[in-house]
Amino acid sequence: MKANTTKGEVGSFGEFLEKFNFVQREYPASLLKISSMKTALITGASSGIGRELATCFAQDGTHLVLTARNTQELEKIAVHLKQSYGIQIHLFTCDLASPNGANELYQFCQSQGIHIDYLVNNAGFGDTGLFEQTDWSKNEQMIQLNITSLTHLCRLFIPKMKVAKFGRILNVASTAAFQPGPTMAVYFATKSYVLHLSEALHNELETNGITVTALCPGPTETNFAQAAGFKSDGIFDNKKKFPSAQEVAVFGYKAMQKGKTVAIHGILNYIQANASRFFPRNWVVKITRWMMS
Ligand SMILES: NC(=O)c1ccc[n+]([C@@H]2O[C@H](COP(=O)([O-])OP(=O)(O)OC[C@H]3O[C@@H](n4cnc5c(N)ncnc54)[C@H](OP(=O)(O)O)[C@@H]3O)[C@@H](O)[C@H]2O)c1
Repeated sequence: MKANTTKGEVGSFGEFLEKFNFVQREYPASLLKISSMKTALITGASSGIGRELATCFAQDGTHLVLTARNTQELEKIAVHLKQSYGIQIHLFTCDLASPNGANELYQFCQSQGIHIDYLVNNAGFGDTGLFEQTDWSKNEQMIQLNITSLTHLCRLFIPKMKVAKFGRILNVASTAAFQPGPTMAVYFATKSYVLHLSEALHNELETNGITVTALCPGPTETNFAQAAGFKSDGIFDNKKKFPSAQEVAVFGYKAMQKGKTVAIHGILNYIQANASRFFPRNWVVKITRWMMS
């Protein structure tokens, strides 16, 4: 990503192509400079999309608070980003699947006197299998991480963004948000929640200088599939080529900076997510079940 480009308008056809992710539009320097000297908090920054989002912010000179459970990975990323971009980085090791996680993270920022301008709720995981066979404690942790901690962090950080009259929130949802997902029922439902919460908050807050963006990636090359227990011949077939975490992060970062409400990555994902509105709901569930098998 180039932070200092001044490339002009690409026109309405260009905007169409950009919307469907055929081209990566370059943004005016003034738009990206908005982030300089500000601070972003990124959850799930130790790998995948979260790590790449940290690089997007660092390239634009934004200071960072990075959090995840894996301290060693966070430290490696922090050393690299500090050396490359000269920004300030705070690390906080935290389990956001625990009921106190969000509050501990907020208290850490308070104790360090850090004001958060950008909140990126990226940490999340999924689990595959028929609902009645799933491990309840895993479901509980998923709901706590994907839903409760994400909501709590929004609730904790929004009031100060409102006072500052500036805030950008990026909630990482998924294309799973657009339909029920048999054999991954709880994960799909958590992401529907993230999408709906983000859209509602965006509506409540946009007149206060705060925007909320739901990033909806489709299958992406990260640790997600392995952690969720996907087989190598299903939707995450390892013979298929998926978008990289970097590509998805850059797309989400730009959408957040522009204050978009929903950002679906990739034209096929865009069509699939929107197609579900034109079919009877029971068809949509059956088609999703077929796609998941
Ligand atoms: N990859 C995909 O195909 C895909 C598609 C759509 C949506 N998404 C969403 O994208 C987001 C990022 O996932 P990813 O694909 O980048 O996968 P990933 O590489 O597995 O990253 C997940 C991140 O979440 C953190 N995390 C997991 N459990 C945590 C916990 N209990 N407390 C705090 N942090 C925790 C992990 O760090 P630690 O393990 O160090 O805690 C890691 O940094 C997720 O919300 C996921 O649902 C992914």
